[in-house]
Amino acid sequence: MNDILEKPRKIYVTRKIEFNAAHRLFNPELSDEENRLFYGKCGGVHGHGHNYLLEITLSGTIDRKTGYLFDLKILKTILEEEIVARFDHRHLNFEVSELAGNVPTTELLAVAIWEILDDRLRAITNQEVRLHEVRIHETGKNSVTYLGE
Ligand code: NI
Repeated sequence: MNDILEKPRKIYVTRKIEFNAAHRLFNPELSDEENRLFYGKCGGVHGHGHNYLLEITLSGTIDRKTGYLFDLKILKTILEEEIVARFDHRHLNFEVSELAGNVPTTELLAVAIWEILDDRLRAITNQEVRLHEVRIHETGKNSVTYLGE
């Protein structure tokens, strides 16, 4: 018998989800001139929408019994409950308490999503499985990656 898991194998699994949301990049603590300088048309008073693509990566060692790192069906359910339900078809400036008082850039969105998912995963997984990376594609060309540091 070839025991592939004779030694622990560090591995990564990734699940993608999409959600649509609106935001306005505007900082009320800055002058109108600074807001225009930093955010340009992203600061338009009525906001604009994005089709966000999120990639969530977990890390850990393969479970000897299941052969999985983590059941991706469970991760799918967690992402629907924690991310889609919270963010999809929302206005990020007004409707998401985790972002209240912050300019909803993709960077801050990535950190907020990290905090939400890290809390949830720590509550249900053993020490071997951890949230490794949150990556958000805001457009086809721009993405942000947060590793929890
Ligand atoms: Ni935008």
